[in-house]
Amino acid sequence: MTPRIHGGPDAQGVLPHDFSTCAHPLGPCPGAWQAVQAADARHYPDPDSTALRQRLAAHHGVAPERVLVAGSASEFIQRISAAALALRSGPVIVPKQAYGDYAAAAQAWGRPVVSAISADAAALRWCADPGSPCGQDDPVPHDLDAVPTVLDRAYTPLRVSGPSPWTPDDADAVFQLWTPNKALGLTGVRGAYAIAPRHAPALLMARLHALAPSWPLGAHAVTMLHAWCEPGTAAWLAGSLPALAQARAALAAGLAQRGFVLRPGAAPFVCARVPLRWQDAARALRDHGVAVRDCSSFGLPGHWRLNALPAASCTALWQALEALA
Ligand SMILES: Cc1ncc(COP(=O)(O)O)c(C=O)c1O
Repeated sequence: MTPRIHGGPDAQGVLPHDFSTCAHPLGPCPGAWQAVQAADARHYPDPDSTALRQRLAAHHGVAPERVLVAGSASEFIQRISAAALALRSGPVIVPKQAYGDYAAAAQAWGRPVVSAISADAAALRWCADPGSPCGQDDPVPHDLDAVPTVLDRAYTPLRVSGPSPWTPDDADAVFQLWTPNKALGLTGVRGAYAIAPRHAPALLMARLHALAPSWPLGAHAVTMLHAWCEPGTAAWLAGSLPALAQARAALAAGLAQRGFVLRPGAAPFVCARVPLRWQDAARALRDHGVAVRDCSSFGLPGHWRLNALPAASCTALWQALEALA
């Protein structure tokens, strides 16, 4: 089984300079954060998320029946893997470098994971826009109707360079998985949603509904996802992207200056090959209050992923690296 490794706090709690997650480094989004703090958690939410699904549907210009709410993107990854693999035989297609949970979910069902195979021989396919850990743009498959396909859009709202290679028409043919807690800088709020494809197989949709837990969203998640649809949220996000791009450029320049070799990417976080002298430094950096994400579990040993944190955190990173050189 692939171990599930994540960035962010561990048993020691939150570090002062956490480069290891991909939450918006300039967040939280003030409007969404305020709304979440005022969420009324005294009651069960509507188990069908009726109003929220209507709002998300309007936000994306699709019918409410196509909106599936999820406890988190992580929950949906497990759920659609269970649903799709029950209905189709064959391996699961996962990009060479990808978020580890796709493979972990396939392996939980004893299915092999491959990066290239004829789509009609597979049970499920994963894509990302852009991908992790590099923010890379992989080619859009040409046979989108051949196998149930999920496009993970966790970092689409945080794209800092270049247009998405996915046209609206391409995206409409696949399950789009949206988890706005990253773009809002609210990763402690667990709640996400998927937009089903325009011609989603009825049996697969029925399984996805049958496998959903009751009340997948708590009151805070419902509030966050409503806030996601507010025009003020989109304006805050759009307004933050130039500063995010600048922060990324400063981080990338500082890393390159120290001998890190950067991989191309369109997300705020960067992925870089670590110079030999720091190959084993990820653990020791934690003693300096700095967390980075080792990329071995993404299929990139010897690489780190670092989020584009502001200048003060970069200074802490440079000082810690200096101390460990
Ligand atoms: C690409 C990608 N997809 C999905 C997730 C999971 O998101 P969630 O916080 O909704 O479980 C992550 C979390 O880091 C991620 O990096």
